[in-house]
Amino acid sequence: MDILIKNVRTVLPDDEKIFTVRESNIYIQNKCIAGIDSEPEGFSAETVLDGTGKLLMPGLVNGHTHAYMTVFRNYADDLAFTDWLFGNILPLEDRLLPEDAYWGTMLGYMEMLRTGTTCSLDMYIFPDEAAKARQECGIRAVMSRGLTGSSEDPGGGERRLREAVAEIEKWKGSEGLSFMLAPHAPYTCDPGYLREVVATADQLDVGLNIHVSESQDEINQINEKYGCSPVELLDEAGVLKSNTVAAHCVYLSDSDIEIMAQRGISVATNPVSNLKLGNGFAPMQKLLARGINVCLGTDGAASNNALNMFRDLNYLTLLHKGTTRDAGFLSAYEGLKIATANGAKALGLGGVTGEIRKGMKADLILLDIEKPWMKPENNLISALAYSANGSEVDTVLVDGKILYKNGEYMTIDSQRVYYEVEKICRRLGMRQ
Ligand code: NI
Repeated sequence: MDILIKNVRTVLPDDEKIFTVRESNIYIQNKCIAGIDSEPEGFSAETVLDGTGKLLMPGLVNGHTHAYMTVFRNYADDLAFTDWLFGNILPLEDRLLPEDAYWGTMLGYMEMLRTGTTCSLDMYIFPDEAAKARQECGIRAVMSRGLTGSSEDPGGGERRLREAVAEIEKWKGSEGLSFMLAPHAPYTCDPGYLREVVATADQLDVGLNIHVSESQDEINQINEKYGCSPVELLDEAGVLKSNTVAAHCVYLSDSDIEIMAQRGISVATNPVSNLKLGNGFAPMQKLLARGINVCLGTDGAASNNALNMFRDLNYLTLLHKGTTRDAGFLSAYEGLKIATANGAKALGLGGVTGEIRKGMKADLILLDIEKPWMKPENNLISALAYSANGSEVDTVLVDGKILYKNGEYMTIDSQRVYYEVEKICRRLGMRQ
């Protein structure tokens, strides 16, 4: 279906300023941005979206989340990381059923679309459920089954890896859906298991997604057990490669950062989750100075408690000005690139999504900026980083298809999702 978005102020890439905003006409054909201000041959708009009073920008890319965990939202709050994870979330997770993960993921997708995310890297525990939800919803996603394994439980680790491989084989060729393998963390996978996962990822030619150096407890535990840092342990096991996404990376030494830069990995920073769990903040100045590709993630709704990338973009651009005491550090422009193009690059989708360029996928969001907090329009990039809250998102397209418009989901029965998720939480006795 050909779609024309006309007379719309558009966030376009710019070699000098990173972004520029220019009134444009955007032509969408065959799922792609087929023309910017010049009509492609054979174009015949079936749908015309009027851009008056709106802003068009690339959909946000969530570089680290656990979409199914929306069912744990506002449940285990105000707890330190280890108590939160091992004392509360994991015992509850043991009681989840596969279909619970499907409904939780669907709720996550509703929230992501509603707040302008068109693509995410998801780590989960039930194979197929997230992919099923994605196929129905139509959002772009990179899926990664979370893997844990050690010599104490060789059978369990093997089984999880086998299931992950079977899932990748099953969904191979699905448009808009790709996969990584996700060894969960250095404290839940031993080096032998990590090596096995890396070898399997190489065979399948997929990337790796892993939590790294998230809490002080993790640093202490790895140091006591192996006498090194989590980054050194992972490097020794071959985990750190150019197609690896390392989430969090809060506690890093200078030599850790040097190793990460040399291996060309991407970092998914999660400012809200790191603050909420009392873990601190990533050494952003050093990571960026060393040229590491940093992208932005929300983490799961159990530790955020939202999957709203605009909120994380607000925090990202504010937090590090405070930590560095440098108001010029991490500008609105740099923040927006981290939340879009850098995310696409980390997910192996550079040149595919995350930017408004001719030939790239039409993963676009239209914001209604006729809002008091978006006026006056002195600098719309600043407005996106410092003033927007996600409620401005009016229309969302993924792969050239409208998935959300004017409060309505085209592919999701929102009332059914709310009903099923409430039912799950009542069954688990989560109401407080
Ligand atoms: Ni996480």
